[in-house]
Amino acid sequence: MINKCLFPVAGYGTRFLPATKSMPKEMLPIVNKPLVQYGVEEALEAGLDEVCFVTGRGKRAIEDHFDVNYELEHQIAGTGKEKYLESIRHVMDNCSFSFTRQREMKGLGHAILTGRRLVGDQPFGVILSDDLCMPPEDGAGVMAQMVKIFKQFRCSVVAIQEVEGDDIEKFGVVDGEKLKEGIYRVTNMVEKPKKAEAPTNMAIIGRYILTPDIFDILEKTPPGKGGEIQLTDALLKQAQDGAVLAYRFKGTRYDCGSVEGFIDATHYVYEHIYRQPKA
Ligand code: G1P
Repeated sequence: MINKCLFPVAGYGTRFLPATKSMPKEMLPIVNKPLVQYGVEEALEAGLDEVCFVTGRGKRAIEDHFDVNYELEHQIAGTGKEKYLESIRHVMDNCSFSFTRQREMKGLGHAILTGRRLVGDQPFGVILSDDLCMPPEDGAGVMAQMVKIFKQFRCSVVAIQEVEGDDIEKFGVVDGEKLKEGIYRVTNMVEKPKKAEAPTNMAIIGRYILTPDIFDILEKTPPGKGGEIQLTDALLKQAQDGAVLAYRFKGTRYDCGSVEGFIDATHYVYEHIYRQPKA
């Protein structure tokens, strides 16, 4: 059974300063919905309705977003404006939310390890909400695609996409043996290599399904790239000891941690979702 999804949301969002000085980057809206809500909706669609946040200082707005705002509810009750709350109410009514704080910023691996008590001893999804993933037309979301693969193979799964040129240096990079179309068994993994040292152009994007043995591995993982505890390093160990799959997902990913990706995502959502009349 897999029903938990971990959201590491403690990061500072420095690429979006000054907007993120006093506001969490995960609350930046793509059109009229904050990034983190897209992530939670994707998790819920995949059946992951126990949402666990690894949060940090200055991130209270995220907790408030997934809670009732009594004054607002009271003000707009019975008016035509209630429809604007439909999507967030749906998420709130169908998910549970728990929060823990990452006190020090020691990398993605450390953030995941901080979520250990919330997750417990079961497989779980991870969504990095500044990677906004849009499903293919009429297709399932990326996390739902990954859950399907997990149910078949019962091991950790990372989402990948091919990237061009120097961009590879911004990602964890995987190498692997092709099992079938779009699915690889990981043989190597490197966090943010120089282009010349990148084993392939297959980049990890911010969607993972992890089996709980990852926690013991993370505890023993020394700081890697940038002096941080890297999930990529722990996943390589997991791949060497057992198996990890890389999955070339269907859909489009926008790097909403960068201004360019954020603008592209905004255009896409405005044209394809916001302006589309509801069926
Ligand atoms: C993290 C991971 C990296 C992955 C990326 C996807 O890096 O460490 O392996 O490719 O997310 O967005 P970050 O972008 O948080 O530095």
